[in-house]
Amino acid sequence: MAIVSSGDSSPSASSSRDPSRMMDAALLQEDQSISIEDGLRPSSLEDYIGQSELKQVLDIAVKASLGRGDSLDHVLLYGPPGLGKTTMALVLANELGVRCRITSAPSLERPRDIIGLLVNMKPREMLFIDEIHRLSKVAEELLYPAMEDRRIDINVGKGTTARTRVLKLAPFTLVGATTKAGSLSSPLRDRFGLIQRLNFYCLNELQQIVERAAGLMNLSLTDNACKEISLRCRGTPRIANRLLRRVRDVATVKGKAALIDEILVDEALSLHGVDNRGLDANDRRVMQLILESYNGGPVGLDAIAAALGDDPNTLETVVEPFLLQLGFLQRTNRGRVITNAGRNHLGWGDSQ
Ligand code: ADE
Repeated sequence: MAIVSSGDSSPSASSSRDPSRMMDAALLQEDQSISIEDGLRPSSLEDYIGQSELKQVLDIAVKASLGRGDSLDHVLLYGPPGLGKTTMALVLANELGVRCRITSAPSLERPRDIIGLLVNMKPREMLFIDEIHRLSKVAEELLYPAMEDRRIDINVGKGTTARTRVLKLAPFTLVGATTKAGSLSSPLRDRFGLIQRLNFYCLNELQQIVERAAGLMNLSLTDNACKEISLRCRGTPRIANRLLRRVRDVATVKGKAALIDEILVDEALSLHGVDNRGLDANDRRVMQLILESYNGGPVGLDAIAAALGDDPNTLETVVEPFLLQLGFLQRTNRGRVITNAGRNHLGWGDSQ
């Protein structure tokens, strides 16, 4: 996907009907660490599968803001990784016919990083900040008046000559994304007009997503093959698309790309250690540790992370949500516990 550094941001200029062009025009990626170029993202609310409540709320908000000719209210999207927060921001920008600048909080360490971005925003443009819970205090304090009053206050000079310069900003929309809504300070959270959670996708939605992606990748899959990928992707479109690529690799190498069936999917996903419920080697490592070293729990997250040499934050935001969702793990106030369903999945039998 092209990265554009300038362009006409008026709705009429970027609302061409070609979806791939619309996305190009809507996009300015400031932060190269965020992958945006997978070619499989939907470009309109209509094409976006699942998250029906979120879509309804945002559809109304978009139409209302277009009707008023004003910027969309600031939006906070939260939920586990891979569920489509960045995609939704790009869809919103596309629906509004404006450009979306993409960055992430760790790249906004110095005041000038965020000031530079804000003062260059054109009317109604969108700024997407990923991992917004990781904003530095200075960046956060610069954002308060920017979000509320469309201004930033810059302190210039020192000692007796110190004064505050006020810069007016164009009306813009901040879309913040986080996997840890609870870590956001309340002053920041309170400045978002729309606060929306993204949930894991159901099987039916995932099947539609896999079918759509297979079509875009020119692959033919049987219904059962589609279902098998959907059952094993942890309720997450990003993982579904990744698994589909791995299946494509195996199909290509084995000369079976003409029609991919569930046997080939099973072969490809087993090769990558993804089991029939979507657990990978890392999930099983966490569960085995709790079972073998802590008798199934309870055990604290930090103890698990230390024993595995992992980062507690990654465990909490990436590994744990899906194990909780499957009912294989429980969070109690004494720590994490493997449930009987989890024990049985790993062949341990019920706890006594
Ligand atoms: N690709 C990834 N996420 C998607 C979604 N929610 N709808 C359609 N295609 C997608």
